[in-house]
Amino acid sequence: MCGIFAYLNYLTPKSRHEVLDLLLNGLRRLEYRGYDSTGVAIDSPQANDIVMVKRCGKVKVLEDAITEHFSGKEYDEPVMTHVGIAHTRWATHGVPCETNSHPQRSDDENSFVVVHNGIVTNYKDVKTFLEKRGYIFESDTDTEVIAKLVHHLWKKHPGYSFRELVEQVIQQLEGAFAIAIKSKHFPGECVASRRGSPLLVGIKTKTRLSTDHIPILYGKDTEAPKTKEHRPHGQTRELAVLPRTESTSEFMPLEEKEVEYFFASDASAVIEHTNRVIYLEDDDVAAVRDGTLSIHRLKKCLDDPHAREITTLKMEIQQIMKGNYDYFMLKEIFEQPESVVNTMRGRVRFDSKSVVLGGIKDFIPEIKRCRRLMLIGCGTSYHSAVATRQLLEELTELPVMVELASDFLDRNTPIFRDDVCFFISQSGETADSLMALRYCKQRGALIVGITNTVGSSICRESHCGVHINAGPEIGVASTKAYTSQFISLVMFALVMSEDRLSLQQRRLEIIQALYELPDRIRQVLKLDSQVQELAKDLFQHKSLLIMGRGYNFATCLEGALKVKELTYMHSEGIMAGELKHGPLALIDDRMPVMMIVLRDPVYIKCINALQQVTSRKGCPIIICEEGDEETKSYSSRSLEIPRTVDCLQGILTVIPMQLLSYHIAVLRGCDVDCPRNLAKSVTVE
Ligand code: F6R
Repeated sequence: MCGIFAYLNYLTPKSRHEVLDLLLNGLRRLEYRGYDSTGVAIDSPQANDIVMVKRCGKVKVLEDAITEHFSGKEYDEPVMTHVGIAHTRWATHGVPCETNSHPQRSDDENSFVVVHNGIVTNYKDVKTFLEKRGYIFESDTDTEVIAKLVHHLWKKHPGYSFRELVEQVIQQLEGAFAIAIKSKHFPGECVASRRGSPLLVGIKTKTRLSTDHIPILYGKDTEAPKTKEHRPHGQTRELAVLPRTESTSEFMPLEEKEVEYFFASDASAVIEHTNRVIYLEDDDVAAVRDGTLSIHRLKKCLDDPHAREITTLKMEIQQIMKGNYDYFMLKEIFEQPESVVNTMRGRVRFDSKSVVLGGIKDFIPEIKRCRRLMLIGCGTSYHSAVATRQLLEELTELPVMVELASDFLDRNTPIFRDDVCFFISQSGETADSLMALRYCKQRGALIVGITNTVGSSICRESHCGVHINAGPEIGVASTKAYTSQFISLVMFALVMSEDRLSLQQRRLEIIQALYELPDRIRQVLKLDSQVQELAKDLFQHKSLLIMGRGYNFATCLEGALKVKELTYMHSEGIMAGELKHGPLALIDDRMPVMMIVLRDPVYIKCINALQQVTSRKGCPIIICEEGDEETKSYSSRSLEIPRTVDCLQGILTVIPMQLLSYHIAVLRGCDVDCPRNLAKSVTVE
């Protein structure tokens, strides 16, 4: 949902070409967040000027434009201090085109230029206010109001520092944003802030950093701004400029003189430069001036910390490279034998047959006393909840509700203090899930985060949680995160049933199956060439129905989602029990159908559905258990997967669906890692 990247070198000579390379590379790492259009702004070789290049399309298009645009020798000369900002866009306001690309500017002299991720919901009000003061808008974006508002305030308050101006601006914004701003009036400075959208600062120094914390500077005696009152769109208002927020002093936290700073939407964009980062909190204003980073907040609340921690990233650069694979998605599918091990590492103790989840163990007694478990997420993350609901009901003996975050919010679902709400999210930043989390937290429920992204908003705002440890997932379509979310929820069910004597046999069979799981996944991955052949039969069709029930219904939903998002074909996951209530009318000898029929408690019912399909001349592709000749005999095409315990079958059945959607997408010429209209991290509601 848009990626922002900014770079500032202080007393570390870099040519403009080097700065541009750094910016482009940052954008490549963030491209999965949106790829409608891209842009950069750097200092021009002409004194006190800013140059911008923006293009519609992916980073490659911008790279070509930059090569063409910045060819002079002056771009090779080292510059001691430089600020560059860059953006890759997933359009929300205004179609993808050069004018709507970021950076957005304040005026035709590029006085202030801004990159933004999020949506400013009151932009129409601010725009009307600025238009009345003579500003002419050139784009259809919400972002342009930010650049123009800084400019307006700068003219009105010439004595204000860059940081103070931005601080004034963010008080006027509603909605979500992560921004980085550069100005020709404040050369060598960069100011960034966030509310609702993620943003981190990477710090690179030649020697070891002399501190692990950056103190927070608070404004003195300022009043909380009134920005929240409801105003109908189009209604103008005067912007109340707040009291100036001078801080006690500009603090010099770092002894190092030569330093490079990176501002980025996520850690994958900075890891090749530094592993020392600060995750900014909502309403932090981070400003670099004279090589010094300060983090400022307008007002100190009672329990605010005094400093932001400098975190050391555990991520390795290889984890965010494609290696020998053509696409990140394929790499991530094939990583699953290892990623599931990483999810279980140190948690499932196969020798003692026990499970410990360090991130929630102190809360288990409270969870056991709860009224019900709510599992909330979006898209694939929601499917992992569907996949594990039955096991959770069985092993926790509690009512379990699974909810799509958006629908959950639309319904104003009643939530009670003794509810336990799980928020499942790969990115940890999905706006719908985050809003639902805040809704439940306000009502006193216990919040458990299940995320893949350490330091993400969901992770920080949860009371406790489980990191799924699947490693960075770059392909826009989620694959390994799904199987790791699945296993995390299974582990939770095992923890909850630890002291239930009647469930011990069941627990042992699941723990044994978890032990064997990586090998079983390797076996399934060997089906790749068979799946590729099936894809050749299917890729020219318009539709694909995927049917199953019980533990495998989630695979039908998830398989259909993968097919839709990657191949742009219609696909539907159908609960086999519902077939006769309508979907059966779709069946004829031309409709492609896949059916999951495994030897589990719903086998007989699945066979009934299979017969209903074949007797209407349907010719399904069957996913069945290895060696199950009887089930195979119902069709000429089948995929045999190894046997495992019923509640883990969904992990093995989803992998052929991931591979199938991948191969169909390749055959249809689709961009596997960046499907049209989508973005990895959906930070708008
Ligand atoms: C589909 C996919 C999406 C995400 C959904 C939630 O392949 O990736 O459906 O699962 O946008 O994202 P997270 O898990 O980051 O909250």
